Amino acid sequence: MAPFSVRMPVPPVLRPIAQLPDADVYELAIRQIEAEILPGVRTPVLTYGNHFVAPTIRAKSARRTLITFRNHLQAASNVHLHGGHVPAASDGHPMDLIHPGGARLYSYPNRQQGATLWYHDHSHHTEAEHVFRGLHGAYLLEDDSERHLGLPDGEYDIPILLRDAAFDESGALVFAEPEYRTTLLANGKPSPYFPVAARKYRLRLLNVSTHRDFTLSLGGVEMTQIATDGGLLPAPVPRTTLLISPGERIEIVVDFSRHPLGTQLLLADTTGPVLRFDVVRRARDNSRVPDRLRELPALPEATATREVVLGFGFVGDVPMGLINGRPFDPNRIDAKIKLGTTEIWRITNGDVQYQVPHNFHTHLVQFRVLDRDGNPPLPGETGRKDTVHIRPGESVRVQATFGDYTGRFMYHCHLLEHSQMGMMAQMEITR
Ligand code: C2O
Ligand code: CU
Repeated sequence: MAPFSVRMPVPPVLRPIAQLPDADVYELAIRQIEAEILPGVRTPVLTYGNHFVAPTIRAKSARRTLITFRNHLQAASNVHLHGGHVPAASDGHPMDLIHPGGARLYSYPNRQQGATLWYHDHSHHTEAEHVFRGLHGAYLLEDDSERHLGLPDGEYDIPILLRDAAFDESGALVFAEPEYRTTLLANGKPSPYFPVAARKYRLRLLNVSTHRDFTLSLGGVEMTQIATDGGLLPAPVPRTTLLISPGERIEIVVDFSRHPLGTQLLLADTTGPVLRFDVVRRARDNSRVPDRLRELPALPEATATREVVLGFGFVGDVPMGLINGRPFDPNRIDAKIKLGTTEIWRITNGDVQYQVPHNFHTHLVQFRVLDRDGNPPLPGETGRKDTVHIRPGESVRVQATFGDYTGRFMYHCHLLEHSQMGMMAQMEITR
């Protein structure tokens, strides 16, 4: 199929079914439908709210989101708010499932600063396939101080969910073999075009692939990075290429007024075109990108350190994903952490032999990247992060404070094919 034959949609914003003084109440069905991804072709997909991609949930800092998910699938499912600072009961532990025909209320306090989060399936052994088949959506958390910065907003603030896909002749998605997923989707459409006004846009890039890193460029045009996984950076960072691994988010502002009407700008990955921006009209622009966005708090002193090694190996003769030499066991606690303490974790990609990248994601907390093999963090990763890319043989040190909620939370490689093979562990936060 020729690229740029369809327009990129913006996912609809989910409307609350009720508004309480301190909470917004939502309902979403988890259901299989047929969606048109390739023009004229019906593709069975799994959806939240009968939409591929799922509706965007917009939340406000310190205002609670109450959301009931009803599972109409034949299989068990559950929901994890990726990047959310959430009590264990609402965190979507892989063994804490919504069975077929069942429903579950998740309560998200939103007691964290504004950030681009996302929600996705986390059901044990089926998370990769469920996310691949469509169970992924944006969750945009906004706070007051962010609103006063004057960044582009409203129709000029757009989430773009990036992923890959593979199809058979009938148009069905083929889950096996990540290497053959050569179709790149932006908001659920194959290499689409998107008409823009000649002004600034805030673009929230989310990599919702289960396995693919994107290395993005805009033909040398500057992309001003303003935020990472956990919200705004201290100051904008000019970028011309962006590496975004599965689960990560990067927010950029692009000023399309620097290009004459009629210009087409191509957002491309190293393997092919992702999305074409067509500058088609003029528009007023009162938005700005201030030189200072948000101070990062000073790092508290860490009282413990931990080593975490991600890698493949064999258990008997079965190839498995391992953390510190062991595959995931829901009955084992891998890290016991006292509530409120600060730790430094050194995470190593031990797969020098197989030369596969991994990335590391923790639930519950946003961490800060301290260094990579002793070198300073990369541009754009100096803010709050919950997912970090790690090259074969590389070690990344991160620091986090494990506050507010006790219970069991996961940490794992966010290449979901890897976590599903065992590259996942759990921590227990105790008083
Ligand atoms: Cu985005 Cu444990 O997941
Ligand atoms: Cu991995």
